Amino acid sequence: MTQLIDSRTPLLVDDPDWWRQAVVYQIYPRSFADATGDGIGDLRGIISRIDYLAALGIDAVWLSPFYPSALADGGYDVDDYRDVDPRIGTLEEFDAMAAALHEAGIRLIVDIVPNHSSNRHRWFREALASPPGSPARERYIFRDGRGEHGEIPPSDWTSVFGGPAWTRVEDGQWYLHTFAIEQPDWNWSHPEVREDFLTTLRFWADRGVDGFRVDDANLLAKDLSADPLPTAEELAAMPLDGTHPTTDRDEVQDIYAAWRAVFDEYTPPRTAVAEAWIESPERRARYASPASLGQAFNFDLLQADFDAAQFRRIVTDNLEQVTLSGSSNTWVLSNHDVVRHVTRYGLAPLKGRHAKQGIDWMLAGAPEDEIDRGLGERRARAATLFELALPGSAYLYQGEELGLHEVTDIPDEQRQDPAFWRSTPEERTQDGLGRDGTRVPLPWSRTGSSFGFGDGGSHLPQPAWFGELSVEAEEADPGSSLQMYRCALALRHELQGGEELVWDETLSTADVLAFERPGGWLSVTNFGAEPVDLPAGELLLASGPLDGDAAVGSRRLPGATTAWLRRSAL
Ligand code: NOJ
Repeated sequence: MTQLIDSRTPLLVDDPDWWRQAVVYQIYPRSFADATGDGIGDLRGIISRIDYLAALGIDAVWLSPFYPSALADGGYDVDDYRDVDPRIGTLEEFDAMAAALHEAGIRLIVDIVPNHSSNRHRWFREALASPPGSPARERYIFRDGRGEHGEIPPSDWTSVFGGPAWTRVEDGQWYLHTFAIEQPDWNWSHPEVREDFLTTLRFWADRGVDGFRVDDANLLAKDLSADPLPTAEELAAMPLDGTHPTTDRDEVQDIYAAWRAVFDEYTPPRTAVAEAWIESPERRARYASPASLGQAFNFDLLQADFDAAQFRRIVTDNLEQVTLSGSSNTWVLSNHDVVRHVTRYGLAPLKGRHAKQGIDWMLAGAPEDEIDRGLGERRARAATLFELALPGSAYLYQGEELGLHEVTDIPDEQRQDPAFWRSTPEERTQDGLGRDGTRVPLPWSRTGSSFGFGDGGSHLPQPAWFGELSVEAEEADPGSSLQMYRCALALRHELQGGEELVWDETLSTADVLAFERPGGWLSVTNFGAEPVDLPAGELLLASGPLDGDAAVGSRRLPGATTAWLRRSAL
């Protein structure tokens, strides 16, 4: 058992189940707060805003990659897994941030990116400097090409960001990159790769990190022994039953069994959540099992329309699914890969427009003239209160508490996302402009240089309307989105009990979903357009104004609104 001398208060150290119903706030560090005035968010910026995080009422922060990186993919191209990007801070500042968060009662989850490193990682540089067939190349996935001179890539696979998934190096060999050229895939059959990641997990766990978000958790194990390799078309047709050559192979769980042994060296055990775009509930449950990572994201709500039937089916299915793993649910409406939900809900329904599923969907854009902002805002607030009343953990993305919209008009030359740069103009028409619009630095004040983000501008351009949605503006407005989130999280802390959920069949209709949590906590959401009567009970919070005459006790819930009540009988 590792003896820890870390910054957590006894309260934080003692609870092994803290994650089951936690509210986790995702910080995309380069866009949160810039204390050094270079236009890029940093760890000191986060430290300076811990009071804000504490007032918001979150339980944990998930920090997206902050490691040294050339930013070919927003930091998901990691040069060194055990250091901090000098533009973002230092290891000492990391320790100070962890201590300050813990002091405020907030836990810390960091992102681990194990499917690929960056092409600047010391082992990839060594691989490039070594000849074909050398041990240094074995840590990655190098192959000879096809054709007379090896000039044709080993297969016709395409990368997630577009273009071929293989890139040729000077001596003629090719290496595999599921994502950008700068993100070579690791060879997880290699014992040194496995061991090095265990060292990384211990490195951060020893520094007091409470948990890990595991990037592309389903992709690590690969079987590329077939010769020739299957074509892209054949690959897409292969069953997703644990034997697929590149995704969700059964033996990926051996990797996580070794990770679990490391997590369990600590008190309380370190936690993890798998980012794994897997449709089958049974297969997803493997990652969420206590012998594996313990939790797995479900991205169902963020792929759904604002629709009662879809929401009910998703909740019902996911409640069933967690019984397979013994884990708790994970709810997500926004993150750094998808169009912000306040904007998404102001667009026409997804079906027939961006019907793509899975990771491709993250690239879907949102042209400004198609967005009904007011409708999006009402629906987003209603969906958020629906989400926050559900059992399980809720993962919030920075800025959603402000009701921040996607920024859709970033000039092409200022875009950073490889998904933009590696797609053709035709593909952009279909799939959108990439993910920069959700990663624009946060507005803290109504006016001023970069709306209070920092003194040195902002690495992505902020629109003029950011001031109205700034923390300063919303703190002054009792009806703001920020105030709703603060109230909701405070109430959730007070009301959250067991993980049971019972649908109220009397109140639920084709347009209305009502469910009750232990202790008489009732959540009612009207997905339709016509107001509906609310039942008796103490009104705790509503996502928007109610209809009806309060003086005579009549309360009606308008369309696109959620109300939380405490049932009077209890
Ligand atoms: C999933 C991450 O969320 C995304 O931002 C990243 O581009 C890919 N994995 C590759 O690391």
